[in-house]
Amino acid sequence: MRAWRRTITLACMSKNISSLSGRDGRELDDALWERLQQAAEATGTPERAVLTAIADDFLVGEAVTYGTSSFYDFLKEENKGRKAYVCNGSACLVAGTQDKVHHALARHFKPEEIGHMCCLGRCHENSAFNIGGRNYSGDSVDHMDALVKEVRDGGAHTVAANGVHHVGTTMAAPILTAPMPPLPEFYAIWEQALKGDPRDVLNEIKVATIRGRGGAGFPMGFKLEACRNAEDTTGNGTPRKYIVCNADEGDPAAFSDRYLLEQRPHRVLLGMMLAGYCVGADTGVLYIRAEYPEAVEAVKAAVRELEANGWIGTDIKGSGFSYRFKVIKAAGAYVCGEETALLNSIEGKRGEVRTRPPYPAQQGLFNRPTVVNNVETLACVPWVVAHGGAAFAKLGSEKSNGSKLVCLDSGFKRPGLYEVECGTPLRRVIDELGQGFARPTKALHIGGPLGGIVPLHKVDALGIDFESFQKEGFLLGHASVLSIPQDFPMVAYLEHLFEFTAMESCGKCFPCRIGSTRGKELIQGARQGRRIDRALFNDLVETMEIGSLCALGGGLPLGVRNTLQYFGEELRDYFA
Ligand SMILES: Cc1cc2nc3c(=O)[nH]c(=O)nc-3n(C[C@H](O)[C@H](O)[C@H](O)COP(=O)(O)O)c2cc1C
Ligand code: SF4
Repeated sequence: MRAWRRTITLACMSKNISSLSGRDGRELDDALWERLQQAAEATGTPERAVLTAIADDFLVGEAVTYGTSSFYDFLKEENKGRKAYVCNGSACLVAGTQDKVHHALARHFKPEEIGHMCCLGRCHENSAFNIGGRNYSGDSVDHMDALVKEVRDGGAHTVAANGVHHVGTTMAAPILTAPMPPLPEFYAIWEQALKGDPRDVLNEIKVATIRGRGGAGFPMGFKLEACRNAEDTTGNGTPRKYIVCNADEGDPAAFSDRYLLEQRPHRVLLGMMLAGYCVGADTGVLYIRAEYPEAVEAVKAAVRELEANGWIGTDIKGSGFSYRFKVIKAAGAYVCGEETALLNSIEGKRGEVRTRPPYPAQQGLFNRPTVVNNVETLACVPWVVAHGGAAFAKLGSEKSNGSKLVCLDSGFKRPGLYEVECGTPLRRVIDELGQGFARPTKALHIGGPLGGIVPLHKVDALGIDFESFQKEGFLLGHASVLSIPQDFPMVAYLEHLFEFTAMESCGKCFPCRIGSTRGKELIQGARQGRRIDRALFNDLVETMEIGSLCALGGGLPLGVRNTLQYFGEELRDYFA
């Protein structure tokens, strides 16, 4: 009884903090999150006295500002004095490139000045690192002396940052990777939409049955409609609704959102504007991961173009509709890709997952009705509005419509990003688009750390759609494809997955917080000769799967089970 009362009290406190950081409707003009980030700019972490001052200013108490600053990789005290970061994502790990990067950096920086980032989205060429606020990959590591000198001197950038990848498609008329028309032509559908009924836009999205591309595949139209029908009951300044773009693409081996944000930002922004028009939201918020500094800049530049052309602002083109954007840089927490942790982060809180209900469409950002969608989901919307929902629905398989971006890592002969019609056989993606494997390969990790591990003999059973992956016991997720080399021990990969989850767990529920750490310890022990009790391990995995509050703790078991099922022989010596 007492525990329940405490839970309810904590939930109310959290709600109150949301309202307090809302500050009479000025929540994004002088945001707690930005104040904390500014405070960390000089040294990499905010000073204690500054945290106290910010807490006083926002009436939230020191525990909140300290709690937040200690949660995020690029705000916490350990980040103080960090000058360089080595990517420790799965693709760079299995490619075996990062020891060289670390050694090259260690010639110029003290150990405490070198940190980690996960991941930089350079999975197509690896050797990824960040220095001077920029990302580098590929052969940049071979020019480290010149690079460090130019960063320290603050001179022009002469060392190539690399990061460019192949972009291809099997589609005659691709949706997302098609070349961009001139902006006035592209935004003609916006001017047209503003003259019509918002319900018509919503209807096209519903007819298209766009399923969320961020992993869960939830129908976008359903969320938009729920938000449209919801009321802002906060009483905090003018009633408001939000469209939030989840640009926290943290899955190692995924770089499709990075591509869209950097190369096609207007598709994403127009998608958010149209979604905003549907639900009556006046603000679009993009939460972009700090590991993508180039994406943050590209999106900000695109927003300036919109302002200059009068496509956003107050009473846009005399329509009576107003819309603005807020671009927010994250601070290094994979779990903030989970939509409610993301909302907490924007509010300046620890990136802890919220219990649902209420759902974000009812009570989301600063407790106001909010739609959260993935970058790629939103980027589909302009095409749907221009060509009609039926044209989108006609593409793909029964339950997966339109196209999907797929990322292939450096283990393919032609790594890169590919747009395919949903339902395209995975075999075609591997052999035709990726041109086969660049090294002997035994498995594919598809859909990020929470996705499944597909042995090669299962490839022919899969297509790029939600259904076939579900039927075969895997997960399409965000459709990142990471190839696990033949000589990479699966036990090391399992250790990496548990370690990743333990590092990134938000800590709210114990199956994930404790289970991921115990799992890591068991595997580490096994690698040192202490065999794992299989029944105990199965219990641990099951507890995580059914007892976790979100798909971080709940999703890890999928890949673990796949590995045990398909690589049991390789793992035999590690289990009692
Ligand atoms: C641990 C975790 C990480 C996630 N990371 C992302 C992410 O980086 N990007 C994303 O769009 N969705 C991510 N999601 C899914 C979101 O919670 C949410 O379902 C999604 O943003 C909804 O958008 P969609 O319907 O357009 O897919 C993550 C979920 C979990 C549990
Ligand atoms: S599963 Fe992990 S990340 Fe998700 S709420 Fe629980 S502790 Fe947090």
